[in-house]
Amino acid sequence: MTTIIDTAAIQALDSAHFLHPFTDFKDMSARGARIMTHAEGIYVWDSEGKKVLDAMSGLWCVNVGYARKELAEAAYQQMMTLPYYNSFFQTANVPAVQLAAKLASLAPNVGDRSFEHVFYSSSGSESNDTNVRMVRRYWDLLGQPQRKVIIGRINGYHGSTMAAASLGGMSGMHAQGDLPIPNITHIEQPYFFENGLPGESVEAFGLRAAGWLEEKILQIGADKVAAFIGEPVQGAGGVIIPPATYWPEIQRIVDKYGILLISDEVICAFGRLGHWFAYEKFGMKPDLVTFAKGVTSGYIPLGGVMVGNRVAKVLIEQGGEFNHGYTYSGHPVACAVALANLEVMEREQLPQRVHDDIGPYLARCFAALNEHPLVGEAQTCGFVAGLVLVKDKRTKERFAEELGVGMVCRGHCFGNGLIMRAVGDRMIIAPPLVMTHAQIDEMMALITKCLDLTYHDAQKNGWMA
Ligand SMILES: Cc1ncc(COP(=O)(O)O)c(C=O)c1O
Repeated sequence: MTTIIDTAAIQALDSAHFLHPFTDFKDMSARGARIMTHAEGIYVWDSEGKKVLDAMSGLWCVNVGYARKELAEAAYQQMMTLPYYNSFFQTANVPAVQLAAKLASLAPNVGDRSFEHVFYSSSGSESNDTNVRMVRRYWDLLGQPQRKVIIGRINGYHGSTMAAASLGGMSGMHAQGDLPIPNITHIEQPYFFENGLPGESVEAFGLRAAGWLEEKILQIGADKVAAFIGEPVQGAGGVIIPPATYWPEIQRIVDKYGILLISDEVICAFGRLGHWFAYEKFGMKPDLVTFAKGVTSGYIPLGGVMVGNRVAKVLIEQGGEFNHGYTYSGHPVACAVALANLEVMEREQLPQRVHDDIGPYLARCFAALNEHPLVGEAQTCGFVAGLVLVKDKRTKERFAEELGVGMVCRGHCFGNGLIMRAVGDRMIIAPPLVMTHAQIDEMMALITKCLDLTYHDAQKNGWMA
């Protein structure tokens, strides 16, 4: 497909009218945005005709790859049948009901926790706002209204609305707009490379990091804590993969104090970690599971919360009207696209494929990057991966933040036809789950080339130890 676009004209309109998310408006306007025009499979093309391998699946969401006809057809059919109707006043639509049942069937039961109910939104952020409302309502209904505090993690990401940004632990976000809102607090993240002690094993670190939750609970008073929220693997924070000991210990602690657990799986669900839902992988028994992104492979906005029976029973049996919801909760077109997307994922066995085939293959490829002189540590989990760029491999000394080494590497990636994201000094990927081995090889060759170019720059600039 060729698309002829007047790039300069679109960029001028863009600068004049479009305020982009997470963007320095003036800086972007001066340089002009890169205009993406079309995509197929794992590749995206810009308005200059340049083809780029999208190792980020857009923004962690295009799990089934681009240009899947089934999803477009599902949207078209649904738009022609019932493009919109609300779910507020004792009404429902067929795809929303069918999708809720489908999601309930895909969410594994763990112990006494099972997921039979879904509350819909249109994004991950909205879903986490729903979580805050639901958790507080739950404790009110149980006669414990003093249980208000929700604990999240520093460098966690849960979205950009007031509540979601507060649950997250991004200092740059908290600095704008008086966040966090009251009754949300944070503990340190389980990042072994940064916070592990000399001589400490990764397993021992996992237990110590989980222990920070218990310390925080005791500091606040257990009877005031409503819930703990975390991403099974932190995404936007730089693909921070927790030690295997971390989540089972967190589970033990939340169970000990009767606190609800929210697993934010906006990135981690729908095959990304080799399972339909990530809590299964980590020995978690969450009460609420946030989802978005991969549920439609990003083709159309949809999010929601899987509500476990412990919470659902109280809300249903004792709750009366729940004064919360969105115009687009259970949007028929979004739900129809989600059903088509899940059908593709099931037919192509994408979670299984990540688990048995391309996940282990990517892990082997990434393990080899640990030999690179610029890489302090390279790790994968399912089909996400991250590596940290270091000044001194032996001592793990990091680059000064102001050098922007990650942005230098990202620049080389862009220049060489690869989309890889930089988070500080970490370089991360979350490729589409449909990649072939040959495409993984192609991506790895580009990553290696860009690391080499960055290393060359770092040497030339006298940045290396
Ligand atoms: C774990 C997690 N939660 C929530 C969100 C917010 O989702 P959205 O941007 O759809 O509001 C994101 C977005 O990246 C995320 O990674």
